[in-house]
Amino acid sequence: MPDDLDMLRADIEAAMAGADDLRALDAVRVAALGKSGQVTALLKGLGALAPEERRARGAAVNELKAGIERALENRRVMLEAFALDARLAAERLDVSLPPRPFAPMGPEAGSIHPISRTMEELIALFGAMGFTVAEGPDIEGDWHNFTALNIPEHHPARQDHDTFYLPAQEGGRRPVLRTHTSPVQIRTMLSQEPPIRVIVPGRTWRADHDATHSPMFHQVEGLVIGRDITMGHLKGCLIDFLRAFFGIADLPVRFRSSYFPFTEPSMEVDIGWSRKTGDLGAGGDWLEILGSGMVHPKVLANCGLDPRVWQGFAFGMGIERITMLKHGIPDLRPFYEADLRWLRHYATSPLSPFTLHDAP
Ligand code: PHE
Repeated sequence: MPDDLDMLRADIEAAMAGADDLRALDAVRVAALGKSGQVTALLKGLGALAPEERRARGAAVNELKAGIERALENRRVMLEAFALDARLAAERLDVSLPPRPFAPMGPEAGSIHPISRTMEELIALFGAMGFTVAEGPDIEGDWHNFTALNIPEHHPARQDHDTFYLPAQEGGRRPVLRTHTSPVQIRTMLSQEPPIRVIVPGRTWRADHDATHSPMFHQVEGLVIGRDITMGHLKGCLIDFLRAFFGIADLPVRFRSSYFPFTEPSMEVDIGWSRKTGDLGAGGDWLEILGSGMVHPKVLANCGLDPRVWQGFAFGMGIERITMLKHGIPDLRPFYEADLRWLRHYATSPLSPFTLHDAP
């Protein structure tokens, strides 16, 4: 290759080596091969040469051009790889960083309602103890809501429930808005083979309305069925749960005998608190928190389980009630009023972690 072309190639290659991004490289390409580039000018100049000279010179210029194109391509591939490496390094995502809050909590950011939050906590806590979630319909049959649970016709317990009845289906009985989540005990035992370990968070309905009662409220039911489930399991499970949920490792828990038609024996569960200050965990007073018991043999039999083989325990509690106690919320009614001032105070950011302690 003639000296002048060699020198031009050396110049262009030096410029290429100096181009440290794709834009700079493109400028080198335009300066060499663009419309008024140096190599383009040489090609244009060929026409003025004598035919003999033109052939030799033309071959040399074309070789130069081809060499430059190859070199440009190599450099381009390299710079793209560098650019990708740089991006990967710069945009690396540190998934261990704590989440950055969005705008202050408000209608824009959205927040988790205290009821939903408690349900999530219940699912997390009981989930850690091996429970899965079961569900059932809000509109129940009389059999599932009462009869199968050993609450016979004309039993006073039916009156206790302040039931909402719906118009009777043709020739049938009146459906009810379920008065508790216990009918899902029945549905679960009828649809799953034991052993069973479920919780049932959901809506429940009773014709009752004041500062601590709402016609629609939420309960969580628990049901454990196995071959050798004892009251020891019931106690251990509920004590662990209550201490973890309220975040008080030595929360006093008391089991007090009681009556439910669908459990035998039945126990009301109380936690320690101070009536004077409202503080949980200390103070020497007791606060009733949930109902529980060993599943009644008749209920097992109603679900086709042999009570000589299977036994278990059940419990049920009000979600509003435990939420009010945990967060010091004095009145039940604002739970359903969608008042943004209340929500800003009591709802939680979707990003804030659970406040659970000593999860078993
Ligand atoms: N269903 C009962 C209620 O609504 C609570 C309960 C559930 C009691 C399971 C014992 C066992 O009051």
